[in-house]
Amino acid sequence: MSAEQLDGAQVVDEARPMHRTMGQQSGRRSWAEPWKIKMVEPLRMIDRAGRDVALRDAGYNTFLLRSDDVYIDLLTDSGTNAMSDRQWAGMMLGDEAYAGSRNFYHLEAAVRKHYGYRHVVPTHQGRGAEHLISQALIKPGDIIPGNMYFTTTRLHQELAGGAFVDVIIDEAHDPASLHPFKGNIDLAKLEALFVDGGAAKVPYVCLAATVNMAGGQPVSMANVRDVRALCNRYGVRLYLDVTRLAENAWFIQEREEGYAGKSIAEITLEFCSHTDGAWVSSKKDHLVNIGGWLAMNHDDLFQKASNLVVVYEGLHTYGGMAGRDMEAVAIGIEEALDDAHMNARIGQVRYLGELLSDWHLPIVLPVGGHAIFLDARRFYPHVAQSCFPAQTLAAQLYLDSGIRAMERGVVSAGRDPQTGDHRYPKLELVRLTIPRRVYTQAHMDVVAEAVKAVYDQREGVRGLRMVYEPEYLRFFQARFEPIEG
Ligand SMILES: Cc1ncc(COP(=O)(O)O)c(C=O)c1O
Repeated sequence: MSAEQLDGAQVVDEARPMHRTMGQQSGRRSWAEPWKIKMVEPLRMIDRAGRDVALRDAGYNTFLLRSDDVYIDLLTDSGTNAMSDRQWAGMMLGDEAYAGSRNFYHLEAAVRKHYGYRHVVPTHQGRGAEHLISQALIKPGDIIPGNMYFTTTRLHQELAGGAFVDVIIDEAHDPASLHPFKGNIDLAKLEALFVDGGAAKVPYVCLAATVNMAGGQPVSMANVRDVRALCNRYGVRLYLDVTRLAENAWFIQEREEGYAGKSIAEITLEFCSHTDGAWVSSKKDHLVNIGGWLAMNHDDLFQKASNLVVVYEGLHTYGGMAGRDMEAVAIGIEEALDDAHMNARIGQVRYLGELLSDWHLPIVLPVGGHAIFLDARRFYPHVAQSCFPAQTLAAQLYLDSGIRAMERGVVSAGRDPQTGDHRYPKLELVRLTIPRRVYTQAHMDVVAEAVKAVYDQREGVRGLRMVYEPEYLRFFQARFEPIEG
């Protein structure tokens, strides 16, 4: 074995494979995040015995763990972002007047400039806006078509007396389909709801970009254009969940003909121009820890929503946010639409996805914008869906490594309000959600190895039994026990 002396100290063993950078492994130059770290929050991992106790105390529900007992927290990308120095500086410029805060006008200007809607009603977070639009537009007996359900969105539609109908393309329900725009609406399914007077029962079509429950999958510009044309033909409005539209725009830039030369900001504005309004959880794309809004072009919805907001959220110029929060959202909107930020954001998610798929671990493909989704059915084919395979997998991952993820399967799907039975979705997933600007590539390596370790130990795993079930959005607070023997 030959050895080479480096600086008189280090010895390189030529039999050992040479270390390679992330870029070299993929045959290209490496890229790096367009920021540097100014403040850190220490992390600590409790030992396996401690994790065992913590998990039992949490009823095998990762939402019920204390964050101090978590090592790498991939529960959600919601409100877990790191704010920039500009955003923190903006927080100091909060105008905390009860009415007419200057920060509201900054927020309104940012929404008008980047999303193009005329009116803005602030809310404390996304579900506050979902509540307002549902109460303002839905009557008992209405149906609301959408590209796959989202938990809080559907619940607010149901609480207003409506019923959600899924009109997403079939490929979205297949974790292995490589369709580039798995978030698209199936126009034939949508039109079938409109014909024979059906459109009269549809207060609006509810389009989400990207589709969280399908694995963060995007909607194409062609699809939103076609949906708009169909809605126009039947006189139906089109409202958009823009929570992760900046990520959706990145996929349009990458995959759709004619968009490679356009910026994320241009694509975002064009996408919104096909819709009548939107709601948002700013806790995602907008790089803040709290906030949201509802925006629209129609005056009638604006009037209703700005009246309802004072009942449920706060005055129409703060809607549940402090002035400083609105300033951080206004600045966050600009930062979210920056191409370099979005390249790093999606690049990091993709890096983790590529490790897992190279190792043949079962994940939803193509990798989406905000998370990696593990396919729990293929982890645990021996665990029936009624024994909550995804809930079980999230618990096993925590136990192995202190990494916290979220169930997105039968528990999240809840019960059918008509029959009272569990809804059994085709997708039984665990979401490893990547907070924005928070973790490094080394964290992603640790996560990938932990997922592999859990996969390698999949055999003896039995599943869980639900022992407490709350009435609404049960995935947040349900408790479980392991099935023994
Ligand atoms: C697509 C989507 N819409 C709406 C919401 C609800 O927003 P919030 O959690 O801010 O109430 C979420 C939250 O996860 C979401 O992912």
